[in-house]
Amino acid sequence: MMKDESRTPSEQLEDLASGIRRCVSCRLHKRRRHAVPGEGPASAEIVLLGEGPGGKEDATGRPFVGPAGHYLDKLLENQGLTRERLFITNCVKCRPPENRTPRRDELKTCTSLWLEKQLELISPNLIVLLGQVATRQMLGDTATVSDLHGKLANHKGQNYFVTYHPAAALRFDWVADTIHADFETLGKLLVRPADL
Ligand code: URA
Repeated sequence: MMKDESRTPSEQLEDLASGIRRCVSCRLHKRRRHAVPGEGPASAEIVLLGEGPGGKEDATGRPFVGPAGHYLDKLLENQGLTRERLFITNCVKCRPPENRTPRRDELKTCTSLWLEKQLELISPNLIVLLGQVATRQMLGDTATVSDLHGKLANHKGQNYFVTYHPAAALRFDWVADTIHADFETLGKLLVRPADL
């Protein structure tokens, strides 16, 4: 990405958000109410990456504000983390119809136009991948949450921490147990960020 030295990183992040709100580069824009760029400071050391906006996010333009978001907030709070320290976003910025899984071409278009630029600007120490879509998108097609969850993974020089999607924890007790354990591990890692 071309760095615009006349704009601060926060301003550049906001420029990307404005572009996302106007984006019509894939079919998902047709049925969205609001695109959801993501939220958090440009200086965030941790990025949380989900799949795509759901109904509440589409209605408000804010990430993880529905039931999965409330669950996520509790997981974060248990580890003494608040949203102010994090940048929270999704692989696709517009809600897929009926909350279907984003398609490969939608993921490719959206991540190369927006997510990659957001990550380049923020340059986080750690990206927390929530669920299978985010995990495959960042770590490749053969990566699976069941193999990688609860552990640090380094891929192309970037630190990742993989866990299940909070929406899955609302549906399956075993995922809830696992995601709690994963966030405990994450909390311990973050007490000593020098280890990252
Ligand atoms: N699920 C996601 O993956 N992202 C959101 O923002 C909300 C629900």
